[in-house]
Amino acid sequence: MKSKLLLFGLILFIAFTACNKDKVSTYNASFHATPYQIKIPKYFPTLLNIPADNPMTVEGIRLGRYLFYDGRLSGRTEPDSLMSCCTCHIQSNAFECGINNSHFIGGATFGLTGIPTPHHMLPMINLVFNSNGYLWSGFINKNNTVLGNASYGVPAQQPYNYTNIESVVWMAITAPHEINGTIEKTVNMIKSIPMYPTMFKAAFGTEEINIDRISKAIAQFVRTLISSNSKFDKYLRGETNLTTDEFAGYVLFVSENGGDCFHCHGGSGNPLFTTNLFYNNGMDSIFNDPRDHSQVTHNIKDKGSYKAPTLRNIMYTAPYMHDGRFKTIDEVINFYSEAVIFSPNISVLMHHAINGGIQLTTIQKQQLKTFLTTLSDTNFISDTTFSKPSNLK
Ligand code: HEC
Ligand code: HEC
Repeated sequence: MKSKLLLFGLILFIAFTACNKDKVSTYNASFHATPYQIKIPKYFPTLLNIPADNPMTVEGIRLGRYLFYDGRLSGRTEPDSLMSCCTCHIQSNAFECGINNSHFIGGATFGLTGIPTPHHMLPMINLVFNSNGYLWSGFINKNNTVLGNASYGVPAQQPYNYTNIESVVWMAITAPHEINGTIEKTVNMIKSIPMYPTMFKAAFGTEEINIDRISKAIAQFVRTLISSNSKFDKYLRGETNLTTDEFAGYVLFVSENGGDCFHCHGGSGNPLFTTNLFYNNGMDSIFNDPRDHSQVTHNIKDKGSYKAPTLRNIMYTAPYMHDGRFKTIDEVINFYSEAVIFSPNISVLMHHAINGGIQLTTIQKQQLKTFLTTLSDTNFISDTTFSKPSNLK
Protein backbone atom coordinates (compact mmCIF):
# COMPACT_ATOMS: atom_id res chain seq x y z
CA MET A 1 0.00 0.00 0.00
CA LYS A 2 2.72 2.37 1.10
CA SER A 3 4.77 1.73 -2.04
CA LYS A 4 1.71 2.26 -4.22
CA LEU A 5 1.12 5.60 -2.56
CA LEU A 6 4.74 6.47 -3.12
CA LEU A 7 4.51 5.57 -6.78
CA PHE A 8 1.37 7.66 -7.11
CA GLY A 9 3.17 10.54 -5.47
CA LEU A 10 6.06 10.13 -7.86
CA ILE A 11 3.78 10.15 -10.88
CA LEU A 12 2.06 13.26 -9.59
CA PHE A 13 5.41 14.84 -9.04
CA ILE A 14 6.66 14.05 -12.53
CA ALA A 15 3.42 15.32 -14.02
CA PHE A 16 3.71 18.49 -11.99
CA THR A 17 7.31 19.23 -12.91
CA ALA A 18 6.58 18.39 -16.55
CA CYS A 19 3.79 20.96 -16.49
CA ASN A 20 6.02 23.55 -14.94
CA LYS A 21 8.70 23.00 -17.52
CA ASP A 22 6.12 23.50 -20.24
CA LYS A 23 5.13 26.82 -18.80
CA VAL A 24 8.68 28.04 -18.56
CA SER A 25 9.36 27.33 -22.22
CA THR A 26 6.09 28.85 -23.40
CA TYR A 27 5.86 32.00 -21.34
CA ASN A 28 9.05 33.91 -20.75
CA ALA A 29 9.50 35.95 -17.63
CA SER A 30 8.41 39.24 -19.14
CA PHE A 31 5.25 37.87 -20.69
CA HIS A 32 2.22 36.36 -19.00
CA ALA A 33 -0.77 35.41 -21.10
CA THR A 34 -3.49 33.73 -19.06
CA PRO A 35 -3.48 29.95 -19.53
CA TYR A 36 -6.84 28.60 -20.64
CA GLN A 37 -7.88 25.19 -19.39
CA ILE A 38 -10.39 23.30 -21.54
CA LYS A 39 -13.16 21.97 -19.32
CA ILE A 40 -13.58 18.38 -20.40
CA PRO A 41 -17.29 17.55 -20.32
CA LYS A 42 -18.44 14.51 -18.37
CA TYR A 43 -17.82 11.22 -20.25
CA PHE A 44 -15.73 12.94 -22.94
CA PRO A 45 -12.26 11.63 -23.87
CA THR A 46 -9.39 13.34 -22.09
CA LEU A 47 -6.95 13.32 -25.02
CA LEU A 48 -6.80 16.81 -26.50
CA ASN A 49 -5.23 17.74 -29.82
CA ILE A 50 -3.35 20.88 -28.80
CA PRO A 51 0.10 21.30 -30.38
CA ALA A 52 2.89 21.88 -27.86
CA ASP A 53 3.85 25.14 -29.59
CA ASN A 54 0.35 26.61 -29.35
CA PRO A 55 -0.92 26.41 -25.77
CA MET A 56 -4.38 27.89 -25.27
CA THR A 57 -4.58 31.28 -23.58
CA VAL A 58 -7.49 33.59 -22.86
CA GLU A 59 -5.84 36.35 -24.89
CA GLY A 60 -5.03 34.02 -27.79
CA ILE A 61 -8.61 32.76 -27.97
CA ARG A 62 -9.97 36.28 -27.85
CA LEU A 63 -7.72 37.36 -30.72
CA GLY A 64 -8.65 34.23 -32.67
CA ARG A 65 -12.33 34.95 -32.26
CA TYR A 66 -11.87 38.45 -33.72
CA LEU A 67 -9.90 37.15 -36.69
CA PHE A 68 -12.40 34.33 -37.28
CA TYR A 69 -15.13 36.95 -37.64
CA ASP A 70 -13.16 39.67 -39.43
CA GLY A 71 -13.81 39.70 -43.19
CA ARG A 72 -10.64 41.72 -43.66
CA LEU A 73 -8.73 38.45 -43.19
CA SER A 74 -9.12 38.36 -46.97
CA GLY A 75 -6.59 41.19 -47.17
CA ARG A 76 -9.20 43.42 -48.78
CA THR A 77 -11.75 45.94 -47.54
CA GLU A 78 -14.29 46.33 -50.37
CA PRO A 79 -17.65 45.00 -49.10
CA ASP A 80 -17.83 42.28 -51.76
CA SER A 81 -14.33 40.99 -51.10
CA LEU A 82 -14.54 40.44 -47.37
CA MET A 83 -14.20 36.82 -46.31
CA SER A 84 -13.17 35.03 -43.19
CA CYS A 85 -13.95 31.69 -41.58
CA CYS A 86 -17.37 32.98 -40.50
CA THR A 87 -18.49 33.56 -44.09
CA CYS A 88 -18.93 29.79 -44.45
CA HIS A 89 -18.71 28.48 -40.86
CA ILE A 90 -21.85 29.96 -39.26
CA GLN A 91 -22.62 29.35 -35.59
CA SER A 92 -26.40 28.94 -35.98
CA ASN A 93 -25.68 26.00 -38.30
CA ALA A 94 -23.15 24.40 -35.95
CA PHE A 95 -20.47 26.20 -38.00
CA GLU A 96 -21.56 24.99 -41.42
CA CYS A 97 -23.15 27.37 -43.92
CA GLY A 98 -26.57 25.68 -43.76
CA ILE A 99 -28.95 24.65 -46.51
CA ASN A 100 -30.94 27.92 -46.42
CA ASN A 101 -27.95 30.20 -46.88
CA SER A 102 -28.88 33.08 -49.18
CA HIS A 103 -25.35 33.27 -50.58
CA PHE A 104 -24.38 29.60 -50.78
CA ILE A 105 -27.63 28.28 -52.25
CA GLY A 106 -28.44 24.77 -51.05
CA GLY A 107 -25.31 24.69 -48.90
CA ALA A 108 -22.75 24.60 -51.72
CA THR A 109 -19.87 26.90 -50.81
CA PHE A 110 -17.53 28.76 -53.15
CA GLY A 111 -14.69 31.20 -52.80
CA LEU A 112 -14.42 34.91 -53.52
CA THR A 113 -13.69 34.05 -57.15
CA GLY A 114 -16.82 31.92 -57.46
CA ILE A 115 -14.84 28.67 -57.69
CA PRO A 116 -16.76 25.96 -55.80
CA THR A 117 -15.13 24.18 -52.86
CA PRO A 118 -14.35 20.58 -53.89
CA HIS A 119 -16.61 19.25 -51.11
CA HIS A 120 -19.55 20.37 -49.06
CA MET A 121 -18.90 21.57 -45.55
CA LEU A 122 -17.92 19.95 -42.28
CA PRO A 123 -19.02 21.48 -38.98
CA MET A 124 -16.72 22.70 -36.20
CA ILE A 125 -17.82 20.65 -33.24
CA ASN A 126 -15.48 19.21 -30.60
CA LEU A 127 -12.53 19.33 -33.01
CA VAL A 128 -10.06 19.49 -30.11
CA PHE A 129 -10.94 15.86 -29.31
CA ASN A 130 -9.92 14.70 -32.80
CA SER A 131 -6.39 13.41 -33.32
CA ASN A 132 -7.18 11.33 -36.42
CA GLY A 133 -7.07 14.03 -39.07
CA TYR A 134 -9.20 16.88 -40.39
CA LEU A 135 -11.13 17.40 -43.62
CA TRP A 136 -13.30 14.76 -45.29
CA SER A 137 -10.12 13.06 -46.52
CA GLY A 138 -8.07 13.38 -43.32
CA PHE A 139 -5.37 15.12 -45.36
CA ILE A 140 -4.61 17.47 -42.48
CA ASN A 141 -3.02 15.26 -39.86
CA LYS A 142 -0.10 15.19 -37.49
CA ASN A 143 1.87 12.73 -39.61
CA ASN A 144 1.61 14.74 -42.79
CA THR A 145 5.13 15.63 -43.91
CA VAL A 146 4.07 17.56 -47.01
CA LEU A 147 5.12 21.21 -46.81
CA GLY A 148 3.73 24.21 -48.64
CA ASN A 149 2.08 24.07 -52.01
CA ALA A 150 3.79 25.46 -55.06
CA SER A 151 0.48 26.12 -56.82
CA TYR A 152 -0.56 28.49 -54.02
CA GLY A 153 2.80 30.28 -54.16
CA VAL A 154 3.42 29.33 -50.55
CA PRO A 155 6.97 28.66 -49.39
CA ALA A 156 7.71 25.11 -48.32
CA GLN A 157 8.50 25.77 -44.66
CA GLN A 158 6.78 26.08 -41.30
CA PRO A 159 4.04 27.07 -40.65
CA TYR A 160 2.97 26.16 -44.17
CA ASN A 161 2.33 22.53 -43.38
CA TYR A 162 -0.82 20.42 -43.40
CA THR A 163 -0.76 19.08 -39.89
CA ASN A 164 -3.47 20.72 -37.79
CA ILE A 165 -6.19 23.36 -37.50
CA GLU A 166 -3.43 25.98 -37.69
CA SER A 167 -2.72 24.80 -41.24
CA VAL A 168 -6.31 25.34 -42.37
CA VAL A 169 -5.90 29.07 -41.85
CA TRP A 170 -3.18 29.66 -44.45
CA MET A 171 -4.91 27.16 -46.74
CA ALA A 172 -8.20 29.08 -46.48
CA ILE A 173 -6.43 32.38 -47.16
CA THR A 174 -4.62 31.13 -50.26
CA ALA A 175 -7.05 28.56 -51.72
CA PRO A 176 -8.64 29.75 -54.99
CA HIS A 177 -11.94 28.17 -53.87
CA GLU A 178 -11.90 30.06 -50.58
CA ILE A 179 -10.32 33.46 -49.91
CA ASN A 180 -8.01 33.37 -52.96
CA GLY A 181 -5.66 35.87 -51.35
CA THR A 182 -2.01 35.95 -50.40
CA ILE A 183 -0.45 35.64 -46.97
CA GLU A 184 1.43 38.90 -47.49
CA LYS A 185 -1.76 40.87 -48.24
CA THR A 186 -3.57 39.38 -45.27
CA VAL A 187 -0.73 40.01 -42.83
CA ASN A 188 -0.37 43.61 -44.05
CA MET A 189 -4.10 44.20 -43.76
CA ILE A 190 -4.29 42.87 -40.19
CA LYS A 191 -1.21 44.98 -39.30
CA SER A 192 -2.99 48.08 -40.55
CA ILE A 193 -6.05 47.67 -38.31
CA PRO A 194 -5.44 49.72 -35.14
CA MET A 195 -6.81 47.26 -32.57
CA TYR A 196 -4.75 44.25 -33.60
CA PRO A 197 -1.13 45.02 -32.58
CA THR A 198 -2.13 45.31 -28.91
CA MET A 199 -4.18 42.12 -29.15
CA PHE A 200 -1.20 40.25 -30.63
CA LYS A 201 0.98 41.60 -27.85
CA ALA A 202 -1.48 40.37 -25.23
CA ALA A 203 -1.63 36.94 -26.86
CA PHE A 204 1.98 36.39 -27.90
CA GLY A 205 4.14 38.87 -26.01
CA THR A 206 5.04 41.29 -28.80
CA GLU A 207 3.10 43.30 -31.38
CA GLU A 208 4.57 41.28 -34.23
CA ILE A 209 1.91 40.06 -36.66
CA ASN A 210 2.66 37.15 -38.95
CA ILE A 211 0.80 34.19 -40.45
CA ASP A 212 2.08 31.84 -37.75
CA ARG A 213 0.45 33.93 -35.02
CA ILE A 214 -2.74 34.53 -37.00
CA SER A 215 -3.07 30.77 -37.53
CA LYS A 216 -2.34 29.94 -33.93
CA ALA A 217 -4.90 32.39 -32.56
CA ILE A 218 -7.70 31.21 -34.87
CA ALA A 219 -6.89 27.57 -34.07
CA GLN A 220 -7.10 28.34 -30.36
CA PHE A 221 -10.57 29.81 -30.81
CA VAL A 222 -11.73 26.84 -32.91
CA ARG A 223 -10.57 24.46 -30.17
CA THR A 224 -12.95 26.10 -27.70
CA LEU A 225 -16.01 25.15 -29.80
CA ILE A 226 -17.26 22.33 -27.60
CA SER A 227 -20.79 20.98 -27.75
CA SER A 228 -21.84 18.94 -24.72
CA ASN A 229 -25.28 20.12 -23.68
CA SER A 230 -27.76 18.37 -25.95
CA LYS A 231 -30.80 16.60 -24.57
CA PHE A 232 -28.88 13.35 -24.94
CA ASP A 233 -26.01 14.72 -22.78
CA LYS A 234 -28.54 15.73 -20.15
CA TYR A 235 -30.00 12.23 -20.32
CA LEU A 236 -26.52 10.68 -19.84
CA ARG A 237 -25.93 12.94 -16.85
CA GLY A 238 -29.25 11.90 -15.34
CA GLU A 239 -30.77 15.38 -15.70
CA THR A 240 -33.65 14.43 -17.99
CA ASN A 241 -35.43 11.44 -19.50
CA LEU A 242 -35.76 10.42 -23.13
CA THR A 243 -39.25 9.86 -24.51
CA THR A 244 -40.19 6.30 -25.45
CA ASP A 245 -39.53 7.03 -29.14
CA GLU A 246 -36.23 8.80 -28.48
CA PHE A 247 -35.08 5.84 -26.41
CA ALA A 248 -36.26 3.33 -29.03
CA GLY A 249 -34.26 5.32 -31.61
CA TYR A 250 -31.19 5.22 -29.39
CA VAL A 251 -31.49 1.44 -29.04
CA LEU A 252 -31.73 1.15 -32.84
CA PHE A 253 -28.66 3.39 -33.21
CA VAL A 254 -26.50 1.15 -31.03
CA SER A 255 -27.83 -2.30 -32.10
CA GLU A 256 -26.18 -4.33 -34.83
CA ASN A 257 -29.56 -5.73 -35.78
CA GLY A 258 -31.21 -2.33 -35.66
CA GLY A 259 -29.66 0.75 -37.27
CA ASP A 260 -26.09 -0.42 -36.71
CA CYS A 261 -24.77 3.15 -36.71
CA PHE A 262 -22.52 3.10 -33.65
CA HIS A 263 -19.41 1.38 -35.03
CA CYS A 264 -18.61 4.47 -37.07
CA HIS A 265 -20.62 7.21 -35.37
CA GLY A 266 -20.03 6.28 -31.71
CA GLY A 267 -22.84 6.80 -29.25
CA SER A 268 -22.15 3.81 -27.11
CA GLY A 269 -19.43 4.91 -24.70
CA ASN A 270 -18.30 7.47 -27.29
CA PRO A 271 -20.02 10.79 -26.70
CA LEU A 272 -18.33 12.46 -29.68
CA PHE A 273 -20.76 10.61 -31.99
CA THR A 274 -17.89 9.91 -34.35
CA THR A 275 -14.78 7.76 -34.29
CA ASN A 276 -13.15 10.47 -36.44
CA LEU A 277 -12.12 7.60 -38.74
CA PHE A 278 -12.65 7.04 -42.45
CA TYR A 279 -14.98 4.55 -44.12
CA ASN A 280 -16.67 3.75 -47.38
CA ASN A 281 -20.32 3.71 -46.34
CA GLY A 282 -21.67 2.34 -49.62
CA MET A 283 -23.03 5.37 -51.43
CA ASP A 284 -21.40 4.67 -54.81
CA SER A 285 -19.90 1.97 -56.97
CA ILE A 286 -17.50 4.14 -58.97
CA PHE A 287 -14.90 6.26 -57.19
CA ASN A 288 -13.02 9.06 -58.93
CA ASP A 289 -12.74 11.80 -56.32
CA PRO A 290 -9.04 12.70 -55.89
CA ARG A 291 -9.83 14.07 -52.43
CA ASP A 292 -11.16 10.97 -50.70
CA HIS A 293 -9.21 9.18 -47.95
CA SER A 294 -7.00 7.41 -50.52
CA GLN A 295 -5.34 10.81 -51.03
CA VAL A 296 -3.80 10.23 -47.61
CA THR A 297 -3.16 6.49 -47.57
CA HIS A 298 -2.42 6.02 -51.30
CA ASN A 299 -4.33 2.76 -50.96
CA ILE A 300 -6.94 2.09 -53.65
CA LYS A 301 -9.02 0.21 -51.07
CA ASP A 302 -9.68 3.65 -49.53
CA LYS A 303 -11.27 5.02 -52.68
CA GLY A 304 -14.70 6.30 -51.70
CA SER A 305 -13.75 6.51 -48.02
CA TYR A 306 -14.45 9.68 -46.08
CA LYS A 307 -14.52 10.83 -42.50
CA ALA A 308 -17.61 9.72 -40.61
CA PRO A 309 -18.73 13.14 -39.36
CA THR A 310 -20.05 13.68 -35.88
CA LEU A 311 -23.83 13.33 -35.65
CA ARG A 312 -24.01 15.97 -32.94
CA ASN A 313 -26.13 18.92 -34.09
CA ILE A 314 -26.88 17.01 -37.28
CA MET A 315 -30.27 18.74 -37.60
CA TYR A 316 -28.47 22.07 -38.20
CA THR A 317 -25.99 20.92 -40.85
CA ALA A 318 -27.93 19.87 -43.96
CA PRO A 319 -27.17 19.09 -46.73
CA TYR A 320 -25.43 15.84 -45.88
CA MET A 321 -22.39 13.86 -47.04
CA HIS A 322 -19.16 15.14 -48.65
CA ASP A 323 -21.08 16.07 -51.79
CA GLY A 324 -24.24 17.27 -50.07
CA ARG A 325 -26.34 14.73 -51.97
CA PHE A 326 -28.98 14.34 -49.24
CA LYS A 327 -31.05 17.36 -48.27
CA THR A 328 -32.81 15.87 -45.24
CA ILE A 329 -32.16 13.36 -42.47
CA ASP A 330 -35.06 11.31 -43.89
CA GLU A 331 -33.12 10.90 -47.13
CA VAL A 332 -30.04 9.82 -45.15
CA ILE A 333 -32.02 7.24 -43.18
CA ASN A 334 -33.68 5.92 -46.33
CA PHE A 335 -30.23 5.49 -47.83
CA TYR A 336 -28.93 3.46 -44.87
CA SER A 337 -32.18 1.50 -44.79
CA GLU A 338 -32.49 0.36 -48.37
CA ALA A 339 -30.13 2.09 -50.83
CA VAL A 340 -26.67 0.94 -49.72
CA ILE A 341 -24.49 -0.13 -52.65
CA PHE A 342 -22.24 -3.12 -52.23
CA SER A 343 -18.77 -2.67 -53.75
CA PRO A 344 -15.35 -4.19 -53.16
CA ASN A 345 -14.42 -1.02 -51.27
CA ILE A 346 -17.32 -0.94 -48.83
CA SER A 347 -16.46 -0.98 -45.12
CA VAL A 348 -16.90 -4.36 -43.40
CA LEU A 349 -18.82 -2.44 -40.77
CA MET A 350 -21.67 -1.93 -43.23
CA HIS A 351 -22.94 -5.30 -42.00
CA HIS A 352 -26.25 -5.19 -43.86
CA ALA A 353 -24.92 -4.04 -47.23
CA ILE A 354 -25.68 -7.37 -48.84
CA ASN A 355 -29.39 -6.68 -48.20
CA GLY A 356 -29.10 -3.12 -49.49
CA GLY A 357 -29.18 -1.74 -45.96
CA ILE A 358 -30.63 -2.13 -42.49
CA GLN A 359 -34.26 -2.43 -43.71
CA LEU A 360 -36.07 -0.35 -41.12
CA THR A 361 -39.84 -0.05 -40.84
CA THR A 362 -41.47 3.37 -41.18
CA ILE A 363 -41.87 3.55 -37.40
CA GLN A 364 -38.23 2.61 -36.79
CA LYS A 365 -37.09 5.30 -39.23
CA GLN A 366 -39.11 7.87 -37.29
CA GLN A 367 -37.66 6.66 -34.01
CA LEU A 368 -34.09 6.85 -35.31
CA LYS A 369 -34.71 10.40 -36.54
CA THR A 370 -36.30 11.37 -33.23
CA PHE A 371 -33.20 10.11 -31.43
CA LEU A 372 -30.92 12.13 -33.73
CA THR A 373 -32.80 15.31 -32.79
CA THR A 374 -31.78 14.73 -29.14
CA LEU A 375 -28.21 15.51 -30.29
CA SER A 376 -29.12 19.14 -31.02
CA ASP A 377 -27.42 21.51 -28.60
CA THR A 378 -29.16 24.88 -28.53
CA ASN A 379 -26.57 26.21 -26.06
CA PHE A 380 -23.82 25.53 -28.59
CA ILE A 381 -25.43 27.44 -31.43
CA SER A 382 -26.33 30.40 -29.22
CA ASP A 383 -23.33 30.58 -26.86
CA THR A 384 -22.23 34.21 -27.07
CA THR A 385 -18.59 33.35 -26.32
CA PHE A 386 -18.54 31.67 -29.76
CA SER A 387 -20.32 34.46 -31.61
CA LYS A 388 -19.15 37.55 -33.44
CA PRO A 389 -17.66 40.15 -31.06
CA SER A 390 -20.22 42.92 -30.79
CA ASN A 391 -17.73 45.72 -31.48
CA LEU A 392 -16.56 44.15 -34.76
CA LYS A 393 -18.26 45.48 -37.87
C1 HEC B 1 -15.51 29.28 -48.72
C2 HEC B 1 -16.04 28.64 -47.52
C3 HEC B 1 -15.07 28.38 -46.38
C4 HEC B 1 -14.28 29.28 -45.71
C5 HEC B 1 -14.12 30.77 -45.96
C6 HEC B 1 -13.61 28.53 -44.67
N1 HEC B 1 -13.98 27.21 -44.71
FE1 HEC B 1 -13.40 25.75 -43.45
N2 HEC B 1 -14.33 24.37 -44.58
C7 HEC B 1 -15.07 24.64 -45.72
C8 HEC B 1 -15.38 23.39 -46.40
C9 HEC B 1 -16.16 23.24 -47.69
C10 HEC B 1 -14.82 22.36 -45.61
C11 HEC B 1 -14.79 20.86 -45.93
C12 HEC B 1 -13.61 20.70 -46.88
C13 HEC B 1 -13.17 19.29 -47.14
O1 HEC B 1 -12.99 18.53 -46.18
O2 HEC B 1 -12.97 18.95 -48.29
C14 HEC B 1 -14.17 23.01 -44.48
C15 HEC B 1 -13.50 22.33 -43.46
C16 HEC B 1 -12.88 22.93 -42.40
C17 HEC B 1 -12.26 22.22 -41.30
C18 HEC B 1 -12.20 20.71 -41.08
C19 HEC B 1 -13.24 20.23 -40.09
C20 HEC B 1 -13.12 18.75 -39.81
O3 HEC B 1 -13.94 18.23 -39.04
O4 HEC B 1 -12.24 18.07 -40.35
C21 HEC B 1 -11.73 23.17 -40.47
C22 HEC B 1 -10.97 22.94 -39.18
C23 HEC B 1 -12.01 24.45 -41.05
N3 HEC B 1 -12.72 24.28 -42.22
C24 HEC B 1 -11.59 25.66 -40.53
C25 HEC B 1 -11.70 26.88 -41.20
C26 HEC B 1 -11.08 28.10 -40.73
C27 HEC B 1 -10.29 28.24 -39.43
C28 HEC B 1 -11.37 29.07 -41.66
C29 HEC B 1 -10.93 30.51 -41.64
C30 HEC B 1 -9.49 30.73 -41.66
C31 HEC B 1 -12.19 28.43 -42.68
N4 HEC B 1 -12.34 27.11 -42.37
C32 HEC B 1 -12.71 29.09 -43.79
C33 HEC B 1 -15.44 25.88 -46.17
C34 HEC B 1 -14.86 27.08 -45.76
C1 HEC C 1 -19.24 1.97 -41.93
C2 HEC C 1 -19.33 3.19 -41.15
C3 HEC C 1 -20.68 3.87 -41.05
C4 HEC C 1 -21.87 3.37 -40.56
C5 HEC C 1 -22.13 1.97 -40.04
C6 HEC C 1 -22.82 4.45 -40.60
N1 HEC C 1 -22.23 5.57 -41.11
FE1 HEC C 1 -23.08 7.38 -41.35
N2 HEC C 1 -21.42 8.06 -42.30
C7 HEC C 1 -20.27 7.33 -42.50
C8 HEC C 1 -19.39 8.05 -43.39
C9 HEC C 1 -18.02 7.60 -43.87
C10 HEC C 1 -20.08 9.22 -43.74
C11 HEC C 1 -19.61 10.29 -44.74
C12 HEC C 1 -19.78 9.67 -46.13
C13 HEC C 1 -19.54 10.61 -47.28
O1 HEC C 1 -19.74 11.81 -47.17
O2 HEC C 1 -19.17 10.10 -48.35
C14 HEC C 1 -21.34 9.21 -43.03
C15 HEC C 1 -22.28 10.22 -43.08
C16 HEC C 1 -23.44 10.23 -42.32
C17 HEC C 1 -24.31 11.36 -42.19
C18 HEC C 1 -24.09 12.73 -42.82
C19 HEC C 1 -23.19 13.56 -41.94
C20 HEC C 1 -22.87 14.93 -42.49
O3 HEC C 1 -22.45 15.78 -41.69
O4 HEC C 1 -23.01 15.17 -43.69
C21 HEC C 1 -25.35 10.99 -41.37
C22 HEC C 1 -26.49 11.86 -40.94
C23 HEC C 1 -25.11 9.61 -41.01
N3 HEC C 1 -23.95 9.18 -41.59
C24 HEC C 1 -25.93 8.87 -40.19
C25 HEC C 1 -25.79 7.50 -39.98
C26 HEC C 1 -26.79 6.68 -39.34
C27 HEC C 1 -28.10 7.19 -38.81
C28 HEC C 1 -26.30 5.40 -39.37
C29 HEC C 1 -26.99 4.16 -38.94
C30 HEC C 1 -28.25 3.93 -39.59
C31 HEC C 1 -24.97 5.45 -39.99
N4 HEC C 1 -24.71 6.75 -40.36
C32 HEC C 1 -24.13 4.37 -40.17
C33 HEC C 1 -19.98 6.10 -41.94
C34 HEC C 1 -20.93 5.24 -41.40
